[in-house]
Amino acid sequence: VERTLSIIKPDATRRNLTGKINAKFEEAGLRIVAQKRLHLSTAQAGKFYEVHKERPFYGELVEFMASEPVVVQVLEGEGAIAKNREVMGATNPANADAGTIRKEFALSVGENSVHGSDAPETAKEEIAFFFSGLELVG
Ligand code: GTP
Ligand code: MG
Repeated sequence: VERTLSIIKPDATRRNLTGKINAKFEEAGLRIVAQKRLHLSTAQAGKFYEVHKERPFYGELVEFMASEPVVVQVLEGEGAIAKNREVMGATNPANADAGTIRKEFALSVGENSVHGSDAPETAKEEIAFFFSGLELVG
């Protein structure tokens, strides 16, 4: 089965929405197989989002992700990467479908409550960024 890396972002942890967001994942058939709460440093957030380095919102994104704790997690299930992105909804909550996490909880395109890997290769890299082999029970 497939695995993907998910992050519950600071706007959501601040509003105590971790459980409600996790319920959405579980209702969609995604299993939370690893999970931990971290407060990222600016350097760590900057490294995680390095692919967006040239984008105009990079600085703002990094500051936001390091502003308060996040919950990083590994979701597992059939087609987990695509399924997770479906449950998350569009990047901008104004464009997100009804019932998605971003439609229900996101505040703006920046403070959009969740991150999810976008492809098998990035999922692998992003899981390894946060979790060691010991933390990933097969
Ligand atoms: P992720 O799952 O977080 O990667 O979201 P995504 O794949 O839907 O969006 P993308 O990879 O294009 O952008 C990564 C993140 O950068 C988004 O989730 C937003 O938090 C942030 N972001 C994207 N566009 C903007 C923007 O115009 N302004 C701000 N402030 N942040 C943005
Ligand atoms: Mg992305």
